[in-house]
Amino acid sequence: MRFVNLLSFSLLQASAVLSTLLDDRSAKDIASKRPNHPIQPHHPGKAFQSSPERNKTCTVKSSGNGKDDSENILQAIKECNNGGHVVFPKNEKFTIGTALDLTFLKHIDLDIQGTIQFTNDTVYWQANAFKQGFQNATTFFQLGGEDVNVYGGGTLDGNGQAWYDLYAKDIYILRPILFGAIGLEGASISDLKFRYSPQWYTLVANSSDVVFSNIDIFGGSVSKNPAKNTDGWDTYRSDNIIIQNSHIDNGDDCVSFKPNSTNIVVQNLVCNGSHGISVGSLGQYAGEVDYVENIYVYNISMSNASDGARIKVWPGAASALSGDLQGGGGLGAVKNVTYDGMSLSNVDYAIEITQCYGQKNITLCNQFPSNLTISDITIKNFEGTTSKKYDPLIGYLQCSSPKVCSDIKIENVNVKSPSGTNLYACGSITGIETQVNCKSDGKKGGDS
Ligand SMILES: *[C@@H]1O[C@H](CO)[C@@H](O)[C@H](O)[C@H]1NC(C)=O
Ligand SMILES: *[C@@H]1O[C@H](CO)[C@@H](O)[C@H](O)[C@H]1NC(C)=O
Ligand SMILES: *[C@@H]1O[C@H](CO)[C@@H](O)[C@H](O)[C@H]1NC(C)=O
Ligand SMILES: *[C@@H]1O[C@H](CO)[C@@H](O)[C@H](O)[C@H]1NC(C)=O
Ligand SMILES: *[C@@H]1O[C@H](CO)[C@@H](O)[C@H](O)[C@H]1NC(C)=O
Ligand SMILES: *[C@@H]1O[C@H](CO)[C@@H](O)[C@H](O)[C@H]1NC(C)=O
Ligand SMILES: *[C@@H]1O[C@H](CO)[C@@H](O)[C@H](O)[C@H]1NC(C)=O
Ligand SMILES: *[C@@H]1O[C@H](CO)[C@@H](O)[C@H](O)[C@H]1NC(C)=O
Ligand SMILES: *[C@@H]1O[C@H](CO)[C@@H](O)[C@H](O)[C@H]1NC(C)=O
Ligand SMILES: *[C@@H]1O[C@H](CO)[C@@H](O)[C@H](O)[C@H]1NC(C)=O
Ligand SMILES: *[C@@H]1O[C@H](CO)[C@@H](O)[C@H](O)[C@H]1NC(C)=O
Repeated sequence: MRFVNLLSFSLLQASAVLSTLLDDRSAKDIASKRPNHPIQPHHPGKAFQSSPERNKTCTVKSSGNGKDDSENILQAIKECNNGGHVVFPKNEKFTIGTALDLTFLKHIDLDIQGTIQFTNDTVYWQANAFKQGFQNATTFFQLGGEDVNVYGGGTLDGNGQAWYDLYAKDIYILRPILFGAIGLEGASISDLKFRYSPQWYTLVANSSDVVFSNIDIFGGSVSKNPAKNTDGWDTYRSDNIIIQNSHIDNGDDCVSFKPNSTNIVVQNLVCNGSHGISVGSLGQYAGEVDYVENIYVYNISMSNASDGARIKVWPGAASALSGDLQGGGGLGAVKNVTYDGMSLSNVDYAIEITQCYGQKNITLCNQFPSNLTISDITIKNFEGTTSKKYDPLIGYLQCSSPKVCSDIKIENVNVKSPSGTNLYACGSITGIETQVNCKSDGKKGGDS
């Protein structure tokens, strides 16, 4: 008897061990191989740390039926942090209805093969999304830490329609950003689809050494209320960031460099329906110091957009773009920014540089020049056509004073308006008329 008992006990034990092994093996079987997207052809300079192989696999369970999976997700991430690989299996749908603070990550891969959808409980998220202390930005989650890779071919869905409709009623609601990379150091985010963000798609803040590759962004409203402020990426207080090989279909900046964005490369993007690749807006907050330096934007296809290359700086005087966007009086510099290679189609302005952002009265803007200088800007190798909107103009180059705007080079820009002109509105930039055809003034629209 005793012997039989002992035998059955050890059989049980053996089968438990076996099933754990099988679990582990099947988790390993469904794990994606970490992709390798080289940073090319341009690189901001600073080398990335290597990311060691992971030695453990965890699988996230989905509860189904729109039930909140946040606890399952947090559990799997905690279990596999420090050297593991977390799989969100293919064809499964995960729901997130709780703000997740994931700033503790270290040596981890998040392999998102399925779909993660955020709930559209606008009351909960307005109270609980993470406040990032800049332009009222909030994020559904914050992902930060060291040595993190996110990939897998899956989808992050912001379920934005409820937000687009609510924003039409009240511009002061706080709409969460879909992807918050906050305090992330040494990371790759690749092969993912971002859908229907309530606001910006990605905020990269307090981060360094992060590369985004092969991200596909798409979303829009199905009601009469448009999806507003859906920037592709906004970088803030971040250094050594690459955004490459991606497709963006959105309704605001394709990429935007906000205060203290340095050493950034953006390359090989296809942007449709956006507001261009933008520096700024900067100088919004009086007395605050903003730097955007060493930026290289290369090989961009820009269609159906308001702008191609854009630099927007607030003047020294208080100005208002809208009820929820006001500012002016900030300090700092935009320096060493290159836009090299852009192909345009149906874009309102190929190039827009303004130091009078939010200020319609140019006399007032010139009276209170910006304390945020613009210098060492190169814009080259552009081709294509603008939209009819500002025809005969194809660009707008307006500084607040020549003293705070210098060394702007525009070379090999072969862009025409639909009527065949290539005129720019120019103001307060010394010598700009030797580089481009400034509209002479008022009605004539001549080309000198
Ligand atoms: C797993 O990886 C972590 C982090 O890289 C490391 O600290 C740990 O020693 C590894 N464990 C094994 C069993 O290899
Ligand atoms: C970034 O770090 C600074 C300094 O630690 C902190 O004040 C700020 O809240 C952090 N987050 C953002 C989004 O700037
Ligand atoms: C932030 O929101 C408040 C109201 O909630 C508004 O008064 C303020 O103008 C907003 N700030 C910015 C920078 O949008
Ligand atoms: C909220 O999200 C659910 C799940 O995706 C969806 O069925 C519902 O229509 C959404 N509600 C609104 C008001 O958009
Ligand atoms: C430019 O980007 C496109 C993708 O938008 C890519 O197919 C092409 O190879 C890139 N060209 C160069 C010269 O890098
Ligand atoms: C591109 O954007 C335009 C205008 O915003 C939109 O009508 C069109 O459907 C978009 N095209 C694609 C391929 O996404
Ligand atoms: C930007 O960096 C400068 C210099 O380090 C600092 O003084 C300033 O406060 C920073 N601004 C922001 C918005 O973080
Ligand atoms: C200007 O920026 C480029 C990258 O865009 C960088 O390679 C170069 O070193 C920077 N120049 C200076 C003087 O910092
Ligand atoms: C631009 O918009 C038009 C019409 O809205 C659309 O047919 C075209 O495909 C868009 N261009 C791109 C590159 O998506
Ligand atoms: C623009 O500003 C100037 C200078 O302050 C002022 O004299 C003028 O009345 C303003 N124009 C308008 C239309 O407000
Ligand atoms: C900023 O610019 C304004 C107007 O041009 C000027 O009056 C003010 O002294 C400047 N402030 C600083 C801190 O430089």
